[in-house]
Amino acid sequence: MDPASFVDELTRTRDALLAPLVAPTPTPDDADDADGARKRLLVALVNELSVTELASHWIPTTREVDVKIAFARQAGDEASHFRLVASRLAALGVDLESFSPPAPSPLFAYLRDLEGTVARVAAGLFTLEALAYSVNERFIDLCVALGDEETVRIYRSYIQPDELAHPHLGRELLHKYATTPALRDEARAAVGRVAELAGAARAAAAARLGVTCLPGC
Ligand SMILES: [Fe+2]
Ligand SMILES: [Fe+2]
Repeated sequence: MDPASFVDELTRTRDALLAPLVAPTPTPDDADDADGARKRLLVALVNELSVTELASHWIPTTREVDVKIAFARQAGDEASHFRLVASRLAALGVDLESFSPPAPSPLFAYLRDLEGTVARVAAGLFTLEALAYSVNERFIDLCVALGDEETVRIYRSYIQPDELAHPHLGRELLHKYATTPALRDEARAAVGRVAELAGAARAAAAARLGVTCLPGC
């Protein structure tokens, strides 16, 4: 199979696995309360930090320089998203002085331990970031319905252009590096495992917080 056909096939597989994780937009009446925006943005905050740390963690142990730089770029983007979400939470009255991130979820524990450039790109830039983009789109729809124009502005103007660029970068890197049957199998396995672990993580967070339509990944 030529590289373009492989990446197209992997994209279809990924999108089919992620589709059930991207809930249809709830209306503002659905399981929402005055605290909904703060709860959702706190999930996003933890996520942006987790992805910043993950991409940074992978840089020194990735051999290919263009992939190192892709992870570095992602880490910088996610750190910037963290600051944007933190500012929005502060404006909504959340005191982040005592914020400390929770222990890594099973999803991020799996990702941290991933070895191999192709598996990392397939799991991170290609799958997790595609999920982030899609769930953020639903979150934006909800914020529009709730009249939260400032959160919409932050996501539309700053966060989503980056979250869209990351899976595109993942596609380019998979096209370049997923060149053998063994590497392609690693990529397929990573996509499947991320979809599975992310689905479990999102379901647990929704149950814990009592709100659906969570941003982040
Ligand atoms: Fe982000
Ligand atoms: Fe991201």
